[in-house]
Amino acid sequence: MRLKEEALKLLGSEKKESIEGMGFEIIGDIAIIEAKMSEEDLNKIANLIKKLHPSIGVIARKIEDVQGIYRTAKHEIIATYDRTEFLNKLPKNMRNLSSYETVHYEHGCRFMLNINEVYFSSKLGFERKRIAEQVKEGENIAVLFAGVGPFAIVIAKHKPVEIDAVEINEKAVEYFYKNVQLNKLKGKIAIHHEDVGKWIKNNSIEKYSRIIMPAPKDAPTYLEEVLNKASNNAIIHYYFFVKKEDIPNIREEIEEKYGVKVLYERVAGSVGTNTFRYVVDMKKII
Ligand SMILES: C[S@@+](CC[C@H](N)C(=O)[O-])C[C@H]1O[C@@H](n2cnc3c(N)ncnc32)[C@H](O)[C@@H]1O
Repeated sequence: MRLKEEALKLLGSEKKESIEGMGFEIIGDIAIIEAKMSEEDLNKIANLIKKLHPSIGVIARKIEDVQGIYRTAKHEIIATYDRTEFLNKLPKNMRNLSSYETVHYEHGCRFMLNINEVYFSSKLGFERKRIAEQVKEGENIAVLFAGVGPFAIVIAKHKPVEIDAVEINEKAVEYFYKNVQLNKLKGKIAIHHEDVGKWIKNNSIEKYSRIIMPAPKDAPTYLEEVLNKASNNAIIHYYFFVKKEDIPNIREEIEEKYGVKVLYERVAGSVGTNTFRYVVDMKKII
């Protein structure tokens, strides 16, 4: 990563450990760093980020990792810059963003969000495209744990389908409605502000050809119930956390435990040194 190379030149090799452990992500025009270092070094890194990414409008530091049912992290702002050019690309009624809010661009879609109030990761962009490319015209799709809507929106933007999306965080649901508007998808996605467990219990889910569960911490709680109620041949995109040493046995274990056919599997990100976010695409077979 260019930032780490340049940071090493700037701060010197005695800071190598903290630079190598540094996390970095760009969401919209906000650059987020996660680093254990002094204020002075942090400010130097902020200046470096602005130099390497001139269109950045805000630099934030992650001060608490994702937690709680809403999977939200805490950030503090360490630098702000002129955002006029960025904001002018948005509809007039959406330009009044706080320093914690931004709009992320991905696969021809726009996602408005607040980095402290909702979960969002730009690093899942590949997954959204991968799944959207598999979807066929006319499918009926459920996106559980939908957040501000990125999976549902990327699919609905590119394929004529029907989507139900379920999310419990009221703030995420508010941004989801704004994002439906921002992406001109009104009427294409039904948003349910509800607990996934209750929603599965109270709804017939046989009609879905595809059920997406992009929540590695919570999806395992509901997989069995989803599989019990889904129709035969339904495809489930299931995200979960896994330890490195368990990866080689995943396919066999899932097929045996749930009686499904695993169609595809991949590491979809890392969390810590030995834990990964993993995705399995599976088909329900009787
Ligand atoms: C890891 S985030 C993923 C959000 C979104 N899928 C994305 O990729 O941006 C998990 C989401 O599930 C929501 N969530 C957690 N438990 C839930 C539940 N029982 N019912 C509905 N939503 C839930 C959280 O509020 C959060 O927005």
